[in-house]
Amino acid sequence: MIKVAIILGSTRPGRNGEAVAKWVYELAKTRSDAEFELIDIKDFNLPLLDEPVPPSMGRYSQEHTKAWAAKIDTFDAFVFVTPEYNHGTSGALKNAIDFLYKEWNNKAAGFVGYGSAGGTRAVEQLRLVMGELQVADVRAQVALSLFTDFENMTTFKPAARHERSLNTMFDQVIAWGGALKTLRDRT
Ligand SMILES: Cc1cc2nc3c(=O)[nH]c(=O)nc-3n(C[C@H](O)[C@H](O)[C@H](O)COP(=O)(O)O)c2cc1C
Repeated sequence: MIKVAIILGSTRPGRNGEAVAKWVYELAKTRSDAEFELIDIKDFNLPLLDEPVPPSMGRYSQEHTKAWAAKIDTFDAFVFVTPEYNHGTSGALKNAIDFLYKEWNNKAAGFVGYGSAGGTRAVEQLRLVMGELQVADVRAQVALSLFTDFENMTTFKPAARHERSLNTMFDQVIAWGGALKTLRDRT
């Protein structure tokens, strides 16, 4: 079975992202076609990128980079849970992504975005980033609205229909994650 990381991409005190990521993880655990782990980038205490050599060269010097790389390396696919900040993803998530290179390559990804416009602009931005990292991003995504999926913009109460899109996204991520694992195993 492939391993899928659900990556919580916001670090702000009082973040809505935590409830969203937990919802994604709880639904994931009802599936039997992959193993899932919830990864909170906050736990890795990454500073602003402080590696002297570009990550694509694979010469990590800092202990925090090595720990982050070792964790991400264990996964075959990712689900990024992203807020939308100023029409992009969070600086914290972009920074965490930028720290690594080969640990992302030839894997699959899906997205759960949230914000006033469902986090769609943040997800579009992440899709561009995935291209450079050689990550295959699936079509299906979950777009959660601050106005209709959160009470008072803070208490997460997702509309029932999102469960279906979340499962469709998982179907696609798991299928592509499995296909790309075969590719990685061959090379
Ligand atoms: C710095 C900042 C910028 C934001 N910019 C946008 C934005 O451009 N579009 C949007 O839909 N929501 C925006 N929001 C609202 C966030 O999407 C919303 O607060 C969300 O809950 C943030 O995720 P978090 O609670 O996990 O940090 C912004 C919030 C912050 C803190």
